[in-house]
Amino acid sequence: MELNLKGQVAIITGSSTGIGAACAKGLAEEGVKVVINYRSSAEEAEAVQRHIKGNGGEAIVVQADVSKEADVERLVQACLDEYGHLDIMVANAGLQQDAAFTEMSLEQWNTVMDVNLTGQFLVCRAAARIFRKQGVHSHGRAAGKIICMSSVHDEIPWAGHVNYATAKGGVKMLMESMAQELAPDKIRINSVSPGAIKTDINKDAWENPEDLKQLLTLVPYGRIGEGTDVANVVAFLCSDAADYVTGATLYVDGGMMLFPGFADNG
Ligand code: BGC
Repeated sequence: MELNLKGQVAIITGSSTGIGAACAKGLAEEGVKVVINYRSSAEEAEAVQRHIKGNGGEAIVVQADVSKEADVERLVQACLDEYGHLDIMVANAGLQQDAAFTEMSLEQWNTVMDVNLTGQFLVCRAAARIFRKQGVHSHGRAAGKIICMSSVHDEIPWAGHVNYATAKGGVKMLMESMAQELAPDKIRINSVSPGAIKTDINKDAWENPEDLKQLLTLVPYGRIGEGTDVANVVAFLCSDAADYVTGATLYVDGGMMLFPGFADNG
């Protein structure tokens, strides 16, 4: 299957590390010109850019905090200044600030909401405005594609992480409502919902063998995911191979959503 993404332009928020970095590299491998965005880790963002350029790809790096409206405007403008158009927005930037519910501070709640939910609203709105203005042009069948990076926790409740799970639950409804509203404009919007992927965000859960063993009891497929597992699905959803797919959530989780605790019980 040819993805035919060559020459398209993508912004991937939060792409200096983790799943975002894998998506930036993966899309660049398909010939997409990418905007690498970071908030505070400039060095890592530049390393991702070096990797892409070293493999013959095109990439720029733009600092922006997705929870700030002016930063988001500056981010998309930098993309248009460099590449002239935008085809793909991967709303990926996200973080965790974990705490037991009764100990959770308002600051921890607000930080996660601001980045993981309001940040997605801001970058999706900025992209949709551009896609609407652009219309369907020379790159593919849609006017533009948005991928919301969600999580299995848009469905699975998560004790000790209520801010995160609430934000991801919000992302699900944000994505579906945007998809409904913008489909007539030929804008496709989908979520990719990863389970346990080996990145810094969940290091505590896989770094030592005992914790990894415990984590894998939740993953019927028996391995932890890699960034490329997510990046491949993102590239597919951005391509015309998925042109009839909008408003969908694709779980990339080795079966974490399948209630593995019931396999020999219940
Ligand atoms: C979280 C990870 C967690 C995974 C599965 C992700 O959304 O960011 O920390 O390991 O969900 O629970």
